[in-house]
Amino acid sequence: MSDEWYTRLVQSGRLSVTLAEKRRSKESPDVAVAQPSGASRGLLASHLSDHVKLIRSLIKMSGLSKRGHNNARRIRINELSIDIPQLPESFHGFKLMHLSDLHLDMAPDIADVIAARVQPIAADATVITGDFRAATAGPVAPTVAAFEKVLPHLPRPVYAVLGNHDSLQVAAGLENLGLRLLFNEHVLMQRDNAQIAIVGVDDPHFFQTDDLDAALVGIPHGVPKILLAHSPEIYADAERSGIDFMLAGHTHGGQICLPGGYPVIVNADCPRRYCRGFWRHEQLRGYTSVGTGSSVVDVRFNCPPEIALHTLVAA
Ligand SMILES: [Fe+2]
Repeated sequence: MSDEWYTRLVQSGRLSVTLAEKRRSKESPDVAVAQPSGASRGLLASHLSDHVKLIRSLIKMSGLSKRGHNNARRIRINELSIDIPQLPESFHGFKLMHLSDLHLDMAPDIADVIAARVQPIAADATVITGDFRAATAGPVAPTVAAFEKVLPHLPRPVYAVLGNHDSLQVAAGLENLGLRLLFNEHVLMQRDNAQIAIVGVDDPHFFQTDDLDAALVGIPHGVPKILLAHSPEIYADAERSGIDFMLAGHTHGGQICLPGGYPVIVNADCPRRYCRGFWRHEQLRGYTSVGTGSSVVDVRFNCPPEIALHTLVAA
């Protein structure tokens, strides 16, 4: 990350100096050796690394590794529709492709698998709700190089937020490729004379550098607001702030689930009903992706990875 990029980030107000420094103080050195768990801030906390090793051994011993590995590469396309109150007529039918938790450095083939899956999908915009990376320390170049393979295949414009596995170093690399990250800020999308706001907040889970109030400043009254947040944990704040539709990820839907899709672990500080698929909290509707990639262990069971294709519908 160049000093120039960091200075521009904070001077522009995209991320306040206080939150940027809070983030930097919690980030692992980007030149350090990767932590033994490989991805300790994600599905499992670092102190659970022994459990991760145990899970890996159990999967290996069970003979299910190959099946789980293949499951992690069978990405489902979930075509969904969502009513948005006060959606302008010109945005009726607008298609938003939603990816999350790519964890592109998890395996060398993941970027190609995702690129091939998104390539034929037609949409009006793409949003990504964080966790580009699996490792939480060490060089970021493999993640940036992998995203460079995916980006040309994504419907433009592309907006994204960072997750708990992502550092400012990886953010700088992704923005150099042309990705528009939303720290605590918004963009307005225009069609004819109407607008919708895509609002983004920084990671509310591990870094806790989200500032939804700051992200909302300047949105004209009456413009529908779609929030991108890495984790659904801020659902109550989002509802209080008048967000119309919230998109999140982080939980992986459990990634390794019991038959019937019941997750063993979701690692989010909120009720399980917010941790997968559609949910509602009072006036707020939300959708939590089970993730497009995988982390910690490169397998999935009873929880296929997904790309969600949300069609916005005027209510
Ligand atoms: Fe993740």
